[in-house]
Amino acid sequence: MSAAATPEGRVLWFTGLSGAGKSTLASALHAELLAAGVKTELLDGDAVRENLSKGLGFSKADRDTNVRRIAFVAGLLAQHGVTVLVSAISPYADTRREVLAALPNTAEIFVDAPLETVTERDVKGLYLKAIAGEIAHFTGVSDPYEAPTAPDLHLRTDRLSVEECLSLLRPLAGLKETVS
Ligand code: PPS
Ligand code: ADP
Repeated sequence: MSAAATPEGRVLWFTGLSGAGKSTLASALHAELLAAGVKTELLDGDAVRENLSKGLGFSKADRDTNVRRIAFVAGLLAQHGVTVLVSAISPYADTRREVLAALPNTAEIFVDAPLETVTERDVKGLYLKAIAGEIAHFTGVSDPYEAPTAPDLHLRTDRLSVEECLSLLRPLAGLKETVS
């Protein structure tokens, strides 16, 4: 009996400010991949920080550790043919470059909305607190976000609907652009 090699899975890395739409898009795409019978896993910043990265804060060192841990797990999954969707602010360009270069079949997806929009959305009420100075080192307010300069996909979520974003994302995940 010959052992067939598992083709390496794709890694779609969603980066952007809090409230830009990373989780919304990654989880919708994840549901579509599951429905299509594709082996897939979602590594979402919030869930990772409750488990794998519990105890880490938001200094550059801790964010980099978090991002490297996520990339490590993504690489293990991808080796087994899993399509991995990562949703994490991952604010530092050099660290994103480093981890993406070490992974197979990657796509960097810049989930982009202006600070004004994410502050209006304030999905978790964190911007209000950050602007009031109640949360230190808050990305986009009192901590840096280094936007990708050449992402594989740049989604302006203040201009595009969720469905429009998904139609651009599907081909990167190996799905047809439109759902029949
Ligand atoms: S990072 O920079 O990639 O390590 O961040 P990530 O693991 O994606 O975690 C971001 C979520 O943590 C919440 N939160 C903060 N974000 C940014 N800055 C500060 N100081 C902060 N404190 C808490 C916030 O809810 C982020 O979740 P999302 O889903 O992006 O809104
Ligand atoms: P993040 O994971 O980046 O912190 P979330 O996905 O939690 O962001 O929140 C994004 C918010 O923006 C949601 O309330 C979502 O419904 C809204 N939104 C509006 N347009 C879009 C879009 N095109 N893509 C993603 N989210 C959008």
